[in-house]
Amino acid sequence: MTSIPGDPKTVSALLAWARQSLDNAGTTNVAQEALWLLASALEMEHHALVSRTEQPVTTDQLARAKTLVSRRMAREPIQYILGTQEFCGLDFVVNSSVLIPRPETELLVHAVLKEGGLAEGATLVEVGTGSGCMAVTFATILEGVRILAVDCSAEALVVARSNAVRHGVGEKIVWIEGNLLAPLRDHVAAGTVDVIVSNPPYIAEGEWEQLQPEVRNFEPRLALLAGQRGTEFHERLFHDSKEFLVPGGLLVMEIGQGQLPLVQHAAEQAGGYTGLQTVKDEAGIERVMIARRAG
Ligand SMILES: C[S@@+](CC[C@H](N)C(=O)[O-])C[C@H]1O[C@@H](n2cnc3c(N)ncnc32)[C@H](O)[C@@H]1O
Repeated sequence: MTSIPGDPKTVSALLAWARQSLDNAGTTNVAQEALWLLASALEMEHHALVSRTEQPVTTDQLARAKTLVSRRMAREPIQYILGTQEFCGLDFVVNSSVLIPRPETELLVHAVLKEGGLAEGATLVEVGTGSGCMAVTFATILEGVRILAVDCSAEALVVARSNAVRHGVGEKIVWIEGNLLAPLRDHVAAGTVDVIVSNPPYIAEGEWEQLQPEVRNFEPRLALLAGQRGTEFHERLFHDSKEFLVPGGLLVMEIGQGQLPLVQHAAEQAGGYTGLQTVKDEAGIERVMIARRAG
């Protein structure tokens, strides 16, 4: 690439250009994102970037910066551009085959560790593992617990497996491709699972158009969209989990804003659960549903 008059020539000019470009595209968190994108494009640490503002940029660095900034200007999530997202203190590889792990999903991990009573020999199943963020986190914390993770997306399971290897737990998780709990019959006996945890798709069809472009245009639809109510997966999980949970075992699910009444109704309809509890997120939204298998 040849440089053209007006192209930024120094790190500080490039930073100013990146901030302005992102601002024009309507993204938020402009200053931080400009720094992250340029650190990646220039292959420099953030602190080096801000302390070497007068350093000239090479034509290769400029070309890389333009590519990354234009991807973000098209509203691609910064996590897909940079390739990782932190979850429970671990770095997870992400790409467009998997949902970007969200901070509120960490509440499910905390709920399982607090309420699940997972001793050595216990069995934990994650349904809809995506990047593998929950299953891998559990595998790094829990000793002697059998962990199985299901997803219907073969592409997502490739990413999940790579994250397990990245965190040294590649041998500790059984990855299963299939539809919700149906494939579990080949792996566990009825009534033997201690915890089933899931962050299922929960966007209602009518909410799709209101999603941010970063989500609607880039994250997998399969990971997000439920049905008309948004709680169809919760209903299925309440129903299907009864076969697999031990008496006293836990079903822990993430729920969407305002979905609590529908999810409580689904629990009543399914029957067979006691001690429904919820956990609120930082915004005060009921975000986690915990149900205990009766018996
Ligand atoms: C909301 S994402 C959650 C991903 C990850 N567990 C997380 O919390 O970041 C839902 C996941 O469920 C998977 N999924 C959707 N429908 C499914 C089905 N019928 N059976 C199994 N997995 C499904 C999607 O591929 C996606 O990875």
